Amino acid sequence: MPNTETYNDDVVRLFLLAAAVWGIIGMSIGVYAGAELAWPALNFDVSWLSFSHLRPSHTFGVIFAFGGSALMGTCYYVVQRTGHTRLALGKLATFTFWGWQLACVLAMVTVPLGMTQSKEYAEPEWFVDIIIAVVWVSFGTVFFATLARRRIQHIYVANWYYAAFIIAVGLLHIVNNLALPVSLTKSYPIYSGVVDAMVQWWYGHNAVAFFLTAGFLGMMYYFVPRQAQQPLWSYRFSIVNFWALISVYMWAGAHHLMFTALPDWVQSVGMAFSLVLLMPSWGSAANGLMTFQGSWRKLKTDPAVKFMVIALVFYAASTFEGSMMAIKSVNSLSHYTDWTVAHVHSGSIGWVAMITIGSLYAMAPRALGQPAMYSHRGMEVHFWLHMIGLLLYVISMWLAGVTEGMMWRATGADGSLTYSFLDSLIAIKPLYAVRALGGVLVVSGMVVMAWNLWHTAADARAHLIKPIPVPIPEPVMHQTPAPLPAYP
Ligand code: HEM
Ligand code: HEM
Repeated sequence: MPNTETYNDDVVRLFLLAAAVWGIIGMSIGVYAGAELAWPALNFDVSWLSFSHLRPSHTFGVIFAFGGSALMGTCYYVVQRTGHTRLALGKLATFTFWGWQLACVLAMVTVPLGMTQSKEYAEPEWFVDIIIAVVWVSFGTVFFATLARRRIQHIYVANWYYAAFIIAVGLLHIVNNLALPVSLTKSYPIYSGVVDAMVQWWYGHNAVAFFLTAGFLGMMYYFVPRQAQQPLWSYRFSIVNFWALISVYMWAGAHHLMFTALPDWVQSVGMAFSLVLLMPSWGSAANGLMTFQGSWRKLKTDPAVKFMVIALVFYAASTFEGSMMAIKSVNSLSHYTDWTVAHVHSGSIGWVAMITIGSLYAMAPRALGQPAMYSHRGMEVHFWLHMIGLLLYVISMWLAGVTEGMMWRATGADGSLTYSFLDSLIAIKPLYAVRALGGVLVVSGMVVMAWNLWHTAADARAHLIKPIPVPIPEPVMHQTPAPLPAYP
C-alpha cells in the first residue's frame, strides 16, 4: 500500500513567520539599547525606555522569541523528514506555537515594565515561567512522540542534538526558576547568596550550551548536508562530538563567576572544563565545514551556503575565544568589559543568527511548496548587510573591551589609578556609535529577509488553507545512517 500521509508543515510555517518577526523586533531593541549607550538622552527619561529595562527585553527577544521560534519550527520540520513520518499530536504542536508566542509577548511586555526576577536570561516572573514550562513539556512530548513513530530505524544525529536541547532546557528552566510568589507580579527565588549565584550561572551558562549551541547544532547537522547536497563528512565524529559536548558543557559554568565568592577550586574546575570544551566545539565546526568539501562552488551561487559557512567559522572563532576568556588571567582583563559583549555577539550574530538564516533560506521554499526563494538578489543583499554589520559590531566591541580593560588596570608609580571610569567611557564612546551602525545593518538585513519570505509565501498563502501535500517517502529500514534522502 503506498503511503498517502503528508508532512505537517502548517506549524512549521507559523514558527518560520514568528522567527522573522521576532528577529526584527528583538534585534531592533538591541540597536536602540546600543544607541542609548552612545547617546544616553535617547531614553527620554522614560523608565521602560531606559537601557536597563530594554536590555533584558532584547536578550529575551533574540534568544527565546527569535531563536526559540526558529528552533521549534526547524525541529518539527527535521524530525518529520528524518523519520519519514508525520508529526505526532498535531493539535498539541499547534498549541506549542500559540503558547510560546503568548509567553514571548508577556515576557517582552512585562519585563520592561519592571516585573522581573532580576535573574539574567530568566527575567520573566513566575506566571510567565509556568506558561513556558507547560509549553516546553508539550514541545518535548510532540518531539519524542514523533520520534517514537518514525519509520526509519536509525535516529539521525540532528535529532540527538534537538533531544538534548529539549531535555536540558526543560531541566534548567524548572530548577532555576523555583520561586515563591508573593503577589501576581512578584516572587522570590528559593535560593540565596552564593548558592543562588551558582544555580543562576549553571542555568545561564547551560542556556548558552543547550539553547544557543546544542539546538542550533541540530539545525546545522540537518541543513548543512542538505544544502551541500552530500552526506555529513563524518557521521561517527558527529556522535563522538555529541557525547563530548553534553558531558563537558555542564561543568564549565563557573567561568562566569571568576574572582567571586565562589570557592577557588570551583572556579578552576570551570576553567579546566572550558578549555576541554574547545575540542567538541571545533569538532562540530570542522565536521560542518568539511561537509562542503567538493561543493565549495556553491559559495558562489547559493547565499544559504554562504550564511552556513560563515556561521561555522564564527562558531569556531567564538568558542576559541570563550575558552581563552575562561583562563583566569585573561578573564581578569576581559570580565566586566565589552570584550564579553563582543564574544557574545560573535557567537550570537555570527553563529546563531547566521546558521538560523541559512537554514530558514533552505527550509522556507520547501515548507512553502515553492521552487526557490522569491528573490535571489534579496538573499545576497541580506548576506552582505549581515556580514558588514557583524564585523562592525564585533570589531568595535573587541576594541572597546581591550581599551576598557587596559585603562582600568593602568596604575601610576604610587599605585593610584591612571584613569577614572569616566575617562574609559569617553574613550570608547565612538565605538558604541560604530556598534549601533553595525546593528542597523543587521536589522536591515532581517527586514530584507522578511520581505523576501513574504513574497515567497505569496503563492503559498492559499496553502495555509489548503496545504500542498508533501508525500512522505516509503520507509527505508537501515541500521547505519544512509546519506539523507533528497529534498523535500
Ligand atoms: C542587531 C543586532 C544586535 C544588536 C544591535 C545587539 C545589541 C546588544 C546590546 C546593546 C547589548 C547590551 C550590551 C551590554 O550590556 O553592554 C546586547 C546584549 C546581548 N545580546 Fe545583543 N544585539 C544584537 C543581536 C543579538 C542576537 C541575534 C543575539 C542572540 C541570538 C543577542 C544576544 C545578546 C545577549 C546574550 C546579550 C547579553 C550580553 C552580556 O551580558 O554580555 N544579541 N546586545
Ligand atoms: C567553548 C565554548 C565557549 C566557552 C568556553 C565560553 C566561555 C565564556 C566565558 C569565559 C565568558 C565570560 C564570562 C565572564 O567573564 O563573565 C563567556 C560569556 C558568554 N558567552 Fe561564551 N563561551 C563559549 C561559547 C559561546 C557561544 C557559542 C555563545 C553564543 C552563541 C556564547 C555566549 C556567551 C554569553 C551570552 C556570555 C555572556 C554571559 C553574561 O555575562 O551575560 N558563548 N563565555
